[in-house]
Amino acid sequence: MASSAMHVSILSLLLLATTASIPHASSRAAPSQADGGATGGKAVYTKVCDASRFMAAGLDMSKYRYCNASLPYGDRVRDLIGWMTVEEKVSNLGDWADGAPRVGLPPYKWWSEALHGLSSTGPTTKFDDPKKPRLHSGRAAVFNGTVFANVINSAASFNESLWKSIGQAISTEARAMYNLGKGGLTYWSPNINVVRDPRWGRALETPGEDPYVVGRYAVNFVRGMQDIPGHEVASDPMSRPLKTSACCKHYAAYDVDDWYGHTRFKFDARVEERDMVETFQRPFEMCVRHGDVSSVMCSYNRVNGIPACADARLLSGTIRRDWGLHGYIVSDCDAVRVMTDNATWLGYTAVESTAAVLKAGLDLDCGESWIVQDGKPVMDFLTTYGLEAVQKGKTRESDVDNALTNLYMTLMRLGYFDGMPRYESLNEKDICSHDHRSLALDGARQGMVLLKNHGGLLPLDPKKFGAIAVRGPHAEAPEKIMDGDYTGPPCRYVTPREGISKDVKIWHHANLTIYFGGINMHIEREGNDREDLLLPKNQTEEILHIAAVSSNPIVLVILSGGGIDISFAQGNPKIGAILWAGYPGGEGGIAIADVIFGRYSPGGRLPLTWFKNKYIHQIPMTSMELRPRPDHGYPGRTYKFYDGPYVLYRFAHGLSYTKFRYESSAGNGTAVTLAAGGHCKQLSYKAGAVDTAPSCPAIDVASHACKETVDFNVSVVNCGDVDGSHTVLVYTVPPPEVAGAPIKQVVAFQRVFVKAGRAATVGFSLKVCEAFGIVEKTAYTVVPSGVSTVLLENGDTSSPSSVSFPVKISFST
Ligand SMILES: *[C@@H]1O[C@H](CO)[C@@H](O)[C@H](O)[C@H]1NC(C)=O
Ligand SMILES: *[C@@H]1O[C@H](CO)[C@@H](O)[C@H](O)[C@H]1NC(C)=O
Ligand SMILES: *[C@@H]1O[C@H](CO)[C@@H](O)[C@H](O)[C@H]1NC(C)=O
Ligand SMILES: *[C@@H]1O[C@H](CO)[C@@H](O)[C@H](O)[C@H]1NC(C)=O
Ligand SMILES: *[C@@H]1O[C@H](CO)[C@@H](O)[C@H](O)[C@H]1NC(C)=O
Ligand SMILES: *[C@@H]1O[C@H](CO)[C@@H](O)[C@H](O)[C@H]1NC(C)=O
Ligand SMILES: *[C@@H]1O[C@H](CO)[C@@H](O)[C@H](O)[C@H]1NC(C)=O
Ligand SMILES: *[C@@H]1O[C@H](CO)[C@@H](O)[C@H](O)[C@H]1NC(C)=O
Repeated sequence: MASSAMHVSILSLLLLATTASIPHASSRAAPSQADGGATGGKAVYTKVCDASRFMAAGLDMSKYRYCNASLPYGDRVRDLIGWMTVEEKVSNLGDWADGAPRVGLPPYKWWSEALHGLSSTGPTTKFDDPKKPRLHSGRAAVFNGTVFANVINSAASFNESLWKSIGQAISTEARAMYNLGKGGLTYWSPNINVVRDPRWGRALETPGEDPYVVGRYAVNFVRGMQDIPGHEVASDPMSRPLKTSACCKHYAAYDVDDWYGHTRFKFDARVEERDMVETFQRPFEMCVRHGDVSSVMCSYNRVNGIPACADARLLSGTIRRDWGLHGYIVSDCDAVRVMTDNATWLGYTAVESTAAVLKAGLDLDCGESWIVQDGKPVMDFLTTYGLEAVQKGKTRESDVDNALTNLYMTLMRLGYFDGMPRYESLNEKDICSHDHRSLALDGARQGMVLLKNHGGLLPLDPKKFGAIAVRGPHAEAPEKIMDGDYTGPPCRYVTPREGISKDVKIWHHANLTIYFGGINMHIEREGNDREDLLLPKNQTEEILHIAAVSSNPIVLVILSGGGIDISFAQGNPKIGAILWAGYPGGEGGIAIADVIFGRYSPGGRLPLTWFKNKYIHQIPMTSMELRPRPDHGYPGRTYKFYDGPYVLYRFAHGLSYTKFRYESSAGNGTAVTLAAGGHCKQLSYKAGAVDTAPSCPAIDVASHACKETVDFNVSVVNCGDVDGSHTVLVYTVPPPEVAGAPIKQVVAFQRVFVKAGRAATVGFSLKVCEAFGIVEKTAYTVVPSGVSTVLLENGDTSSPSSVSFPVKISFST
């Protein structure tokens, strides 16, 4: 959300707000959320359409058709908006919405976060503070929630069912908090921006650099957060009930926070349409189309000159019309203010910006509502300037009505008006439950990536080493490092040292040293991009010194979100093993010990390339292009387009304590013929291949039925001597003669558990249009004619197990 400076002011004001000492906060009671007021240790759950609420307010509920549950949501929402004055309408366009108490609608706080567990960020989710006397003594206290490993860790598991399970657990905790009057229903997670540049400060919050993997993460997490069993699809998607509402953010082309003064608030991302379609929009498209997410957040930055939140083509054109969003579009917090005050876009006044974003398709303004200016708190931008925009004729009242319709339809689907009996008995016992904590632990283990293991140094046998030395700044990593950001207080917190000490004695001199190093949120965080990819210099020196004087090789455990150039350690024989632990959350210390002592064989694979530091000197962070431009010395980005020398660990690198081998059923390959139907598209060919261009080089997938598939089975053989999980990653490689195509691209993946000496069969059915499609120069997605390759690459390059087979694609006319 906001800059770190803004966060400080929010946090201090939030503390004030909880003591209800500022008039702004106390005058905004939200009955169904944090200020419910019921006592007796019971849930304070209440719904809008509760006859007793109306009676207490002296209103006759039967008069308000919006509370008639037998009418369609659309009619009810129309009725509700019909009761509201224009002043009431605009007062509901901000995240801290006033409601319309005059006609029975209570205030609602939209802003909640749940990136990897319920987060305290935003004004809505309220954990009790064990150090403070409680305000409502009768209500069940909740001091903490389950903190899952950070998203970059979960991504490394490449396990879709884990991602969904995490979303399910979080939404259960969210419903429990809502019932207790301590939380909301609308969560602005996940963060699905692609990590285009290794310096991005928010890599830890994301599923990495591959748009397809990021998109699959989004779909699974969103379905976990939103789906109610039996209601995964609906004939009328606008009335499909939701467990909680998720939000895919930040749209679009956002991944510069602050790089040498280029801040996200003013940054203008110059993006080719091809990169937009292929990389920056792809996860969002998957999130909306396949996840059926109920919200998308637009970002601060501009895209080709236009602030994302004011771009009608990006918002109402692409998200709503082309992808068919069922839900609302919200601005990143203060984005509308920023575009006016800071980016000074088109010299617009506040009223003009307000009109522009509403017209573009924005429905809700997240604002730092508690910023105090001239002695009074300033509300969200749209709530402050919306009325004038309507009165001056710059905004049509119907645009405001449309925005409110999108908002209230979402709340209807959440049971905000009618209740949702299925979830109303959830309470504090459903938070930090045994199941959720084991899932957090299991998830943290699944995401651990073994980067180096010379001579099988790991796993350690605790019986062999009477004592172990534990060194390095992260051995006692505090909660705020292990838990990463957008977090709440964890149910329990185990440091790496505590985890290790359950198995062995910790001793200063011993035969073996485990060094816990890495970086932290001073170096990589929201609002702060990295200046280099190195470890702090004194850590490098300390590691080298310890390795040099130690009789046995040492073990290095790295905590970080983004990649680190640890070439010095990779090449050093005295550093025998390297484990990347990400920021593994509340149970992280246990997860690390489970891997180090071999109770769990690591199966994680890196969700982003770890570059050598030299890479960043070739490429400014502000250049958005993915493809290399040799004439400009521009190297290209991510594994899809960069094949230069400055890679330390490639995308999807990851070793195991066992060995896996593949046997594919595809044999020599296969051939597919698609009906071109006259929809041929031109393609660019490499020099020398132009002459052999076929008469129909490619077909446009948008005008093709796309029913064809390529089916094959892979037998994953565990030929080592320990049980373990392994992810099969399937890439396609476009025909070599096509110019400007990716080197390869992930099109499917599946994680499987295989016992030692056994095999597991994994079946894949690749849809030809999706798996073999590429985005050509003018941004059409096409299937090229020619021989593509299907490639299955093991994370362990020392295993002789990669397999590939050709797929010949041709068109019939
Ligand atoms: C709710 O709407 C239905 C359908 O129009 C109607 O039959 C019913 O009387 C309404 N209920 C109330 C309480 O007005
Ligand atoms: C994937 O994650 C789930 C947890 O949701 C777990 O039960 C399963 O074992 C994992 N699969 C593999 C192969 O590790
Ligand atoms: C935006 O502009 C306002 C007013 O000039 C200023 O107070 C604020 O610090 C600026 N914010 C950022 C993020 O630059
Ligand atoms: C150190 O390692 C040696 C063998 O490498 C072993 O004999 C000895 O017991 C170990 N000492 C401790 C304190 O673990
Ligand atoms: C979390 O809250 C529980 C009470 O619900 C408490 O027993 C526990 O100590 C808290 N955990 C931490 C890490 O403070
Ligand atoms: C490196 O320097 C930083 C900043 O002075 C210090 O906080 C840290 O403890 C040092 N780390 C090591 C491993 O000496
Ligand atoms: C695979 O190719 C080889 C050599 O081209 C051929 O001898 C063999 O019959 C082919 N096998 C299949 C299953 O097509
Ligand atoms: C994959 O294996 C299943 C049985 O495990 C079999 O039914 C199916 O035909 C196989 N598919 C291919 C493409 O080999």
